[in-house]
Amino acid sequence: MKIEENYSIKDINSLRINQLAKYFCSIETVEQFLEAIEFSKLKNLPILFIGEGSNIVFTKDYDGLVIKNNILGKIEHDERIVEIFSGENWHKFVDWSLSNERYGLENLALIPGTVGASPIQNIGAYGKEVSAFIKEVKSINTLTAEERIFSKEECNFGYRSSVFQNKKEYFITSVVFETHLEPCIDISYVSLEEFFRSSPKDIENLKPKDVFDGVSSLRKIILPDHNIEFNVGSFFKNLILEEGDFRNLTKIINVPYYEANSKYKVPSGYLIEAAGWKGNGMKNVKVSEQHALVITTNGNLDGNEIVRFADSIIDDIYDKFKVKLEIEPTLI
Ligand code: EPU
Repeated sequence: MKIEENYSIKDINSLRINQLAKYFCSIETVEQFLEAIEFSKLKNLPILFIGEGSNIVFTKDYDGLVIKNNILGKIEHDERIVEIFSGENWHKFVDWSLSNERYGLENLALIPGTVGASPIQNIGAYGKEVSAFIKEVKSINTLTAEERIFSKEECNFGYRSSVFQNKKEYFITSVVFETHLEPCIDISYVSLEEFFRSSPKDIENLKPKDVFDGVSSLRKIILPDHNIEFNVGSFFKNLILEEGDFRNLTKIINVPYYEANSKYKVPSGYLIEAAGWKGNGMKNVKVSEQHALVITTNGNLDGNEIVRFADSIIDDIYDKFKVKLEIEPTLI
């Protein structure tokens, strides 16, 4: 395992922010991970684990050791339960699971990133969240080098949140998934249903592979390609408002919403578009023309520039609508 010094992280984060890591290494086994941890302890360095860098915003140089996770592999426990090592690509796993008659993940097709990152933000799309399929998460406590297995309940999953956002000392080594034996089609998410209604497919007889293809097409239409317009997907979370705050918002603007557990989920993209940001911004960073929740860069910027841009959107939305947007990816 090679440890590099003053490493440019531009090519390992999907916003292509140009900053340096004091040290960097890529690991392929748990043993190499433990070696990297030893190195960080000897030098008294903070550590940061990354997967594909598709949900992370480097706001400045990282004065520690960045460890890129390339731990690959899978163990099929039985027909429903499969353990996937954390460095595996998420979409490839979804594809593999369908080809092996393990159903349910098709709504989560084409989400960028690794399997290990999926529980951290509790990735979700088209009416499904990964937490619905997670049995347990295996990890190493970097402070003690001991293994800890988190049950689903201990993961404390919420909308784009989990226990791992606060317990940063845990490095996820593998995720154990429980999928369905029989197809269980769910296209109740409005834009997905509309997509199939306007397609030639027979909506009553869809197969999981049709949903997988449909979700993939829809994502390609509405989200910018992160290899061309660099981005981390949604830059902001949707708003979850209490009734009073929701009523106040609707006095200012009529918004689409979904009601759940006496709370109101409002698409932040709607407000950002209504405020006039869609397709607008500065030379190096802007709000996507395709989707108002996505910030794109041209790969020629530092972390400070993107933070200032995001802050100007947050301030403007607050001035106009009196609600506070929250950033979705991890800020470093
Ligand atoms: N909208 C606009 N303008 C836009 C985009 C969206 O007005 O430019 C409004 C529309 O009313 C639309 C509604 O927002 O009906 C919802 O849009 P969409 O279905 O695209 O979903 P979203 O709420 O904006 C969430 C996830 C996405 C996920 C989609 C589909 C979050 C933060 N984002 O976006 O996840 O793909 O649902 O399920 O919850 C990601 O996390 O990186 C991500 C892309």
